[in-house]
Amino acid sequence: MSAVEGHTCISEDCGKPAKLQCPTCVKVGVEGSYFCSQDCFRGSWSAHKLVHNVSDPKGSFDPFPQYPYTGDLRPAYPLSPRREVPADIQVPDYALRADGVSKLEQTYRNAQIAVMEGAELEKMRHVCRLGREVLDAAARVIRPGITTDEIDRVVHEATIERGAYPSPLNYFGFPKSVCTSINEVICHGIPDQRKLVEGDIVNVDISLYKDGLHTDMNKTYFVGKVSNESRLLVKTTRECLQKAIDLVKPGARYRDLGAAIEAHAKKNGFSVVRTYCGHGVGTMFHSAPNIPHYAMNKAIGVMKPGHVFTIEPMINAGSHEDRMWRDNWTAVTADGRRSAQFEHVILVTEDGHEVLSRRLPTSPASQLADAK
Ligand code: MF3
Ligand code: CO
Repeated sequence: MSAVEGHTCISEDCGKPAKLQCPTCVKVGVEGSYFCSQDCFRGSWSAHKLVHNVSDPKGSFDPFPQYPYTGDLRPAYPLSPRREVPADIQVPDYALRADGVSKLEQTYRNAQIAVMEGAELEKMRHVCRLGREVLDAAARVIRPGITTDEIDRVVHEATIERGAYPSPLNYFGFPKSVCTSINEVICHGIPDQRKLVEGDIVNVDISLYKDGLHTDMNKTYFVGKVSNESRLLVKTTRECLQKAIDLVKPGARYRDLGAAIEAHAKKNGFSVVRTYCGHGVGTMFHSAPNIPHYAMNKAIGVMKPGHVFTIEPMINAGSHEDRMWRDNWTAVTADGRRSAQFEHVILVTEDGHEVLSRRLPTSPASQLADAK
């Protein structure tokens, strides 16, 4: 794989696959300066050349200095080099494709909701348990001063140690093994050189693939002491997830989960993100059903024993509206206010549900006194 493969052009509003790197950046040791063409490179030059003048060329920089950021957070490039996966680990179909597209997901886009049972369900339980161990490993290193790239290294190593593949890596070109979403980032934040600071909230969203099955779960963590508003936002988000989980049983309609989530968010003065949804998970990273977290949605499907899916509400302190950074991944709030998220994998059982990603006896204590 060439050095630029898997990267995206950093020129404003471009987003095409990168074909070249800025030669000056390569010389002075600044990584992350990818462009799709000489045209984009020349067009970006007046803004881009500023990164060559940083006093410490190995220090971090914002690759999109002209972007109208909605809040205070900035990307801190360079991204670290792509992490390696041992050759004996089974990889999903998109892992080895230059475009990161999952053909399997494309093929089954409109398929019925899968039913898991027997040996496959036992494997899914196991993969979810491993996933929870990896999430907990990340939780244990969260503190002021650690970079999200270091969290990515911890997640990557804990995942391959368990003989699993980190599902985010190269999924539609995602460059890292975990999503880390700080403060106004709603989801899909890319681990980079930014250090966590006291008062931040950070969501760690881990997914892994083993025995032909994906799992997917996340939690939002406090970095040191946080404001009362952030505490209420995170606590309310966890409660929103629980209110939806409580409804899961055979015969319940997927479209009814959003009403419970939105009612509780609104009661606390918060809003529900509409762009990103819960989803089936297992053979594929994302599959049917699609599960919106807002009220009055038109989701299709009735829950049946053996259905396995995520519920992962993203709750905003201010407006529900989202924007996308120029990396084409990082989703942020349009008003720059904070956003929190929690995600579990749920199995529909004969008489209710089982939370496959539930905490383990070894899990660190919750930072929310009353949360599960
Ligand atoms: N883990 C996310 C989810 O909950 C999806 C991340 S996709 C990635 O559905 F490419 F950003 F990793
Ligand atoms: Co998910």
